[in-house]
Amino acid sequence: MKAMINFAASALFALSLAACGQPTAKVGKTVTSGTADIGGDYTLTNQDGDTVTQTAAFGKPQLIYFGFSYCPDICPTALQKMGAAQARIDPAGDKLNYLFISVDPERDTAESLKLYVTANGFPEGLQGLTGTQEQVDVAKSAFKVYSQKVPTPDSAADYTVDHSDIIYLMDKDGKFVEFFHGKSTVPEMAARINMHLKTGK
Ligand code: NI
Repeated sequence: MKAMINFAASALFALSLAACGQPTAKVGKTVTSGTADIGGDYTLTNQDGDTVTQTAAFGKPQLIYFGFSYCPDICPTALQKMGAAQARIDPAGDKLNYLFISVDPERDTAESLKLYVTANGFPEGLQGLTGTQEQVDVAKSAFKVYSQKVPTPDSAADYTVDHSDIIYLMDKDGKFVEFFHGKSTVPEMAARINMHLKTGK
């Protein structure tokens, strides 16, 4: 099974690069991972200003998405899918931990994430995490996430951020279980997460 998982992870990382507001972004120009060894410790700050480490999310399975709040399309779509999956399998929002980790700490302050995480359709209880660039880089590296600032001279914002478009399902001990990407549907996600909730696998 390991080899298959490794292959799947590789393919995923090659295919799931997303460009927020950059339809011409080159796919596959970046690092791919040959391993499903995903996850690891990080220290970040949540939308309430509290320090959060990876272990703080232990005890429940977790859905984790890396993105940035200025993202016009890819991130909101992914977070709304997460919210729609939650509505099917965890309507009270207490069976899983839902995490959004910013890849744009320059603009995503804890304070600004406080409003962002409450956006319509996002999961109940979504936590928004940010930190220093170094702290964010540690988290990105642990989850093999790619992101890259891209200047946008013609836009009001100075830059956008190309980034991986992956929702990670981690188990209650922080071990990698599964990933979902742009083409994963809400019913598929809900079914897979539900199976994990029932079987731990
Ligand atoms: Ni995005």
